[in-house]
Parts: sequence; structure tokens; C-alpha cells
Amino acid sequence: MHDVKTARWWKEAVAYQIYPRSFMDSNGDGIGDLNGITQRLDYLQWLGINVIWICPMYRSPNDDNGYDISDYQDIMAEFGTMADFDRLLEAVHARGMRLILDLVVNHTSDEHPWFIESRTSAASEKRDWYIWRDGKNGAEPNNWESIFNGSAWKYDPQRAQYFLHLFSARQPDLNWENPQVRGAIYDMMRWWLDKGIDGFRIDAICHMKKEPGLTDLPNPNGQRYVPSFERHLNYPGLLDYVDEMCEQVLNRYDIMTVGEMNGASAEQGEEWVGEQRQRLNMIFQFEHVLLWESAHRLTPDRGLDVPGLKRIFTRWQTLLEGKGWNALYVENHDIPRVVSSWGDDRQFARESATAIAALYFLMQGTPFIYQGQELGMSNTQFASLDDFNDIAARNRAVALRQQGWSEERILAFLSRSGRDNSRTPMQWDDGKYAGFSDSTPWLPVNANYREINVARQQQQPDSVLNFYRTLIALRSRTPALIYGRYQLLLDEHPFIYAYSRTLAEEQWVVVCNLSGEPQIVDARELDLVDRQPVLGNCSPDGEPQLLRPYEARIYSR
Ligand code: GLC
Ligand code: CA
Repeated sequence: MHDVKTARWWKEAVAYQIYPRSFMDSNGDGIGDLNGITQRLDYLQWLGINVIWICPMYRSPNDDNGYDISDYQDIMAEFGTMADFDRLLEAVHARGMRLILDLVVNHTSDEHPWFIESRTSAASEKRDWYIWRDGKNGAEPNNWESIFNGSAWKYDPQRAQYFLHLFSARQPDLNWENPQVRGAIYDMMRWWLDKGIDGFRIDAICHMKKEPGLTDLPNPNGQRYVPSFERHLNYPGLLDYVDEMCEQVLNRYDIMTVGEMNGASAEQGEEWVGEQRQRLNMIFQFEHVLLWESAHRLTPDRGLDVPGLKRIFTRWQTLLEGKGWNALYVENHDIPRVVSSWGDDRQFARESATAIAALYFLMQGTPFIYQGQELGMSNTQFASLDDFNDIAARNRAVALRQQGWSEERILAFLSRSGRDNSRTPMQWDDGKYAGFSDSTPWLPVNANYREINVARQQQQPDSVLNFYRTLIALRSRTPALIYGRYQLLLDEHPFIYAYSRTLAEEQWVVVCNLSGEPQIVDARELDLVDRQPVLGNCSPDGEPQLLRPYEARIYSR
């Protein structure tokens, strides 16, 4: 029935991403933890979730909230113990759900014993486990800029050399050229998989291969440091590492893998996730996120580029059809809340959150929901630059100040682009601290928690939460919405995103108005005359030919 496509559990699953620091605090210290996640598994099961991905919960000094790991085989003290983890894993499995971990192996923390040993001297046994170079003319070895601003190199007085860090200076890059490094990482991966976890989201996989010569970038504008992506983003040779990792570890287990893959075009998607190639199951591609960023970072008033979105999603859908599988997402812990960026979090908060849900969720691929997205959680409020916790935002503020930006302009910019927007505590109820904790949370709760929270939305039949729950149930019981072929409809419409999913005789049509204005839809063209939507996000008494602002309808035909 599914012709070229092979049925797999991870294709039929709906995944939920947890940012542990902000999900649920079980012991009242203001920081989310593993026991907090265990306490809330019933909620995730009620919602219909099958796979949980937790962001890093390993031992870490928290320079980048856990993405700087100092021990891959231990748990961050603030999050609990390995016994707590084992209980969590067991409780997840007892509910028929699965758990995947974040694999952060482009870099470690500077407190990892490997780095501590590597920095002792150029004679140390682990001297080549990281990327060390001598300075050039009394300065850094090259002019690469770090993704978190400033130079990508830091001088280490002990070793008397510079080490490379594509992210923060406390996240030194591992040297993937070194087979010993790769071997140690594979051992660690097997250790977790043998413990029974169900897969990995692979962090920053796109950066693992660096241009071997580490050469300077052209610098026509005379910048101090130059954005260096072209020297390490999806750089030729990267797939050799991936092949080895798959062959040595991943392909030996029945697991789910998804790589964080900035820099891959839809044309390259098949190389990464083509089933014949036996590499990763899925990748998180970045094109739709970058489309938004490029248009809106500097000109916030520009609306959503619906035709641009259509082009991007449709390319991924069609180029992977019958060949590989998509990961579907519109939010994560690195991007602002989607209702505040693509939608309208004021006038049409509920409508736009649900329209975006219907839009991305029913394409071909495994949908991921980021915690709070299912409530339509929105961007938070920052009174001053001191309110930012994220290292990326703090470094960016320094860089923008150096470029002469006013404090006000920096605040406005970071308020709409900053990662802290999606890291505020999960809003469980209208109690103090939104039911997340009994004491002051590490990051303030969004002021709107009395209106937007789980307890309240569970009671409201037309809430964003109940819409997600219905959507999940619909997809889970409908093979055509999982395996069916995607086709874009109304290609040219500037505000309506419509598509069909077809499997054998069965066909579904999703129609979403992604604007705050009513839009006329030609029901004849879509063959929807006299049909009633199976699901919609507005009252059912609407006119067939008229989509209300952010109205979404799902038909079966
Ligand atoms: C990934 C993570 C991000 C982190 C970075 C460095 O992009 O998603 O949160 O800061 O890698 O590990
Ligand atoms: Ca806690």
C-alpha cells in the first residue's frame, strides 16, 4: 500500500521537544529537572505524543545551557541524577513512548577532561583532540568569526596556542579528523543506546567538518572577523564522518536519528536522508527559518512571505517524495515563538497559532512540537538588555554596541530575534510562576501565563492545545496524512497556503489563510463544493468561498 515508502515507527510518530531547564521544576529551586519531566508524562501522553526529545541534560557548566558538556555519561547536577534519568526512561517506555537525546559532539565544554588534558601541553596524549594552532603575526590563526560573535579562536596561556571554537569560547571544537576522537564518541553513543534510549538529535552536525587549511576568508570590507560559514557549513567531506558514524553505531540499532543541518538545500536533502543511502532518518533543514530571518531581522514590519514558504516546503516535499523523510518543525529553542513571528500574537493569537499548526503538521514527515508551541506561547517581554540570559544574545549585544547601535535599537532587535523568547518557563496553570515552580524561575515567566496555560486550555474546546490534540489524533489514525503524496494547490495565491495529500484513493486537502484579512478561495478549483471540513480552527458556520483571517480547514475528498 505504501509503494516505494517503507513504513517505519518514527515516520508515524509525533515528536515533542523538551527544554529541560524550562519544562517542570520538581524540587522548587526554580530550575526544571528530570523528575519534573517524569511528572508531566501523563500530559504528553494525553496530548498524543510518541517521541520525546530532550535537549542536553548531561553534566555541564552551563555556558550555553547544557550545549557545553563536561561529562557525556553523567547528569547535570541541577537536573538530577542518573537514577532519575533511568526512571524517566522507564516511565517513557512504560507509556509506549520513546526518548531521544541531544548528541552534542561538534564541541565539548572547556571543562571536559578531554579538553583539560589537551590544553596541558603540545606533548599531551590528547593534544590533537581539539583544533590547536599557533597565532599569526601576534594575532589569531585566521580571521574567522564565531557564530556567537567575536573571534572563533581563543588563546590558551597554558598550551601557548589558540584553540578553535565556532560557538562560545567555552565550547572548544573537537577535532573530527582524529580517529581517536571519533572512536571515543562512538563508544559514548553505544553506551547510551545500550541503556535503551531510542535515538539522537544530532546537534550542529553541519559544522563538524572544517576546511582543512583553516584559511583566512576574503575580507573586502575590512572587518575585524568574518562570518566563516563557508569554511565549515556542510563542508565537502562531512558525509564521510556521517557514514562512519552510521556504520559504526547508528545503523546497528532500531532508532530514530535527526541531524541539525543548516546549510543543506532541498537538492541535497536526498544525500542526507535518502533511504537507499542508509544515513540519517531525517534532518532539520533551515531554509524556512532563514527565509523569515533574512526578511525580518531588519525590517520587522514585513509580513510573512507565503510564496517563499511555499517554494521552500514544496521543494523539500517533492524532492524527497518516495526517497527520504522530512522532519517538520516551526519552533525550537533557538528561534522566537512562531505565533509572534509568522502569526499575529495580538489580534489573532489563537487563529494564527492553529493555522500555522495545520499548515506544517500535515505535510509529509515527522512533526516536531516544541514545548509551549501547543499552547500558542508567544515571545516574552524584555525591559532591558540585562534581561537576556542567552550567551548568544549577550555576545550579540556587545558586537552591535561596537558597531554603534543604540541600546534601544539593540533591545528591539534582540526582543524579536532572541532565543530567550522560547526558553521562558512552560505555562502549566495560572498559579504563581505558572505552575512551573514554587520559587523564582531561572528565567521569568511570560506575563501572559494567566491567559495562556495548559490547565485553562484543557478546559476550552477551541483552544490551541485542543486543536493540536485533535490534529495529532487525526494524523495518527490516517495513513494518507502520514504516507500520502504532497501536492501544492493554488500555487500563485499570495496568502493562502493549500495542499493535498494522496494515498491510493484517499485524498486530503489542507487550506490555510496565512493573513489577517479574509481571503476568497475558489472552492470549485479545489473541488471542495458541498464538502464539509473534517477539522477547522473557526466556527463551522463560515462561507465555503471565504476564509476568515487565519482560518484553516482540513477536508477529506
Ligand atoms: C545548536 C543548538 C543551540 C546551541 C548550538 C551550539 O545550534 O541547537 O542551542 O547553542 O548548537 O551547541
Ligand atoms: Ca529543579
